[in-house]
Amino acid sequence: MAIELDTFKAGMRCLAGHVCLVTTMRGDGERSGLTATAVCSVSAVPPTLLCCVNRENSTHAAVRNAGFFAVNVLGSEDRQLADRFATSPGGEARFVAGLWSKNETGAPVLDSALASFDCRVAQAVDVGTHGILFGDIVSIRVRRSEAKPLLYAHGQYGGFTSFDEIRSVDSLWIPSWGGVDPDLR
Ligand SMILES: Cc1cc2nc3c(=O)[nH]c(=O)nc-3n(C[C@H](O)[C@H](O)[C@H](O)COP(=O)(O)O)c2cc1C
Repeated sequence: MAIELDTFKAGMRCLAGHVCLVTTMRGDGERSGLTATAVCSVSAVPPTLLCCVNRENSTHAAVRNAGFFAVNVLGSEDRQLADRFATSPGGEARFVAGLWSKNETGAPVLDSALASFDCRVAQAVDVGTHGILFGDIVSIRVRRSEAKPLLYAHGQYGGFTSFDEIRSVDSLWIPSWGGVDPDLR
């Protein structure tokens, strides 16, 4: 059965995604990066992840040429970086915001990221419009804090709240002095 593109997109928009910046360093010394939700853990031994990047995106060619990339997992306070890395202009202009450093490969690593995975390209497989980039993880930086991940679903950014947190907010509810609101009976 042929799948309509709109149906495919509508289905995929239901997949709530963690928002990452996939970054690399070009041969000319310019940085390149894009916002990506198609990032997935593959194996702990050896430590491997994958990301799917549209081959028309300039960062795809930059990663293939460099042979390395970093995946930076965004916290909810970095929502503006997600917008910046998904829209024009691309290239170095995207890096004027945020504090950036690098680890082993030379790929740009965001200091405020919840976690950063520094990777060498182990394998690249083209499927349809996208390239699946498998990364051998050579170093990992994890930010030890209570910061929450930035999420994306149904075309919107949001945050993560555990059921435990929702329950503890509910238990703080105090009825008004006038007794129970008649509308709520
Ligand atoms: C929330 C969100 C998630 C995205 N996820 C991906 C993704 O997983 N792979 C991809 O190729 N593009 C993804 N994009 C689109 C790219 O970020 C966008 O096309 C970007 O401008 C490409 O930049 P470049 O051409 O400089 O590499 C996403 C965009 C948004 C807003």
